[in-house]
Amino acid sequence: MKRSKATVIYVCQNCGSNSPRWIGKCPACEQWNTYVEEIGTKEKPNPVLKSKSKPVSINDISCDDENRIRTEITEMDRVLGGGLISGSTVLIGGDPGIGKSTLALQIFGKYSENGIKVLYITGEESSDQIKIRAKRLDVNGENIYVVTETNLDSIINNIENTCPVVVVIDSIQTIYSVDLPSAPGTVGQIRECTSKIVQYAKNKGISFFLIGHVTKEGSIAGPKVLEHMVDTVLYFEGGKSHPFRILRAVKNRYGSTNEIGVFEMTNSGLGEVKNPSEIFLSERPLNSSGSVVTPCIEGTRPILVEIQALVSPCNFGVPRRTTIGLDTNRVSLLVAVLEKRAGLQITSQDIFMNVAGGVKIEEPAVDLGICISLVSSLLNKPVSADTLLFGEVGLSGEIRGVSQADVRLKEAEKLGFRRFILPETNHENLNEQSKKQQYLGIKNISQAIEILFE
Ligand code: TYD
Ligand code: MG
Repeated sequence: MKRSKATVIYVCQNCGSNSPRWIGKCPACEQWNTYVEEIGTKEKPNPVLKSKSKPVSINDISCDDENRIRTEITEMDRVLGGGLISGSTVLIGGDPGIGKSTLALQIFGKYSENGIKVLYITGEESSDQIKIRAKRLDVNGENIYVVTETNLDSIINNIENTCPVVVVIDSIQTIYSVDLPSAPGTVGQIRECTSKIVQYAKNKGISFFLIGHVTKEGSIAGPKVLEHMVDTVLYFEGGKSHPFRILRAVKNRYGSTNEIGVFEMTNSGLGEVKNPSEIFLSERPLNSSGSVVTPCIEGTRPILVEIQALVSPCNFGVPRRTTIGLDTNRVSLLVAVLEKRAGLQITSQDIFMNVAGGVKIEEPAVDLGICISLVSSLLNKPVSADTLLFGEVGLSGEIRGVSQADVRLKEAEKLGFRRFILPETNHENLNEQSKKQQYLGIKNISQAIEILFE
């Protein structure tokens, strides 16, 4: 059968104007490099005449909430919102080498054990390589089928022939559709392939995991082109030099976002980390200046992390601000607050900050932790090891209340912390018994410094 060649048009991603050729600068909106190829339809079908869909009452739509395929990897199920919904598409993004293929194969191992047929489509590695990894991970391969394929039509063919329940495509950047002339991995190709896969998944009720490499800009395949198409977007994060990996849900149509799963890369694959706080604090130096423990909330879970600061005199030029795991702008802002509101001479110093264990924190509740670790390093006075503190710091040096203070405190008590410094507003809401113990409510940053260092 001869395939009729679809017409390709180039569409501006900014304003939607199109052209038969690629152009560098859009004549309509004057943006650069916004043209991406798409398959053009010559004549638009009349939507009124062709439409077969019919509105139904929302009460009549049957939906089975238990229709989730559990992976039985607790950390994974949590991130997915209780398991994989059939017919849904999940994008797993992450840097190359972080462990995406390993995670996919381990999930498949669990499915296979439970008698669920799965298909592993690889465009990057040979079947042998998958086999070697499967051996290393000691997965049950009974129901896992593997195929090396990059052509989308052949992939669909393979799926039709194998009839799996779940499919993984590793990676989406290697897949191409013959309808578009461009190379695999280009925005046009990735988008075309993904939209076909999402459609197919919905029609057939087959679930897909799509693996995507994060490009240099930090988004999957260029300008986050896939995120709005798929049902769930998971990012696999973590420094390669650390064994810990965090799987983060940034979008989930079937569960809560901001949920994280913590894993540890070992010799035999990814292991679940059920008590992340304990692990993140396990190597904490006790009674050393610049080290402070603060609780942050990831999804629904409190996690205690150690913030480290090193403040040293700047001997030359502009003082340096280097932060790992924290927002540099936030740190600069807090340094200015310390200088102006607490009267410390800190802006002229070199500042290095780190969150132990390779965790990234964005919550403002760690502000107080950042400030105190800076002051501790500046004064070279340690904070006692059983002290935990948290709170948002405002520009006037005031300490603002944070959400879920009780959850944070509970986790810290469990891990043996005895002295708690928290915002006054949160302190007021504690029950009477807690107030008697070592819970100190504070109103501003100077007060915190006074309590801890004088
Ligand atoms: P991989 O899953 O191939 O990463 P990705 O698909 O995200 O590119 O795994 C990458 C790294 O994980 C690789 O450098 C080796 C390491 N690894 C282990 O440490 N233990 C293991 O059991 C496996 C399978 C891999
Ligand atoms: Mg891989």
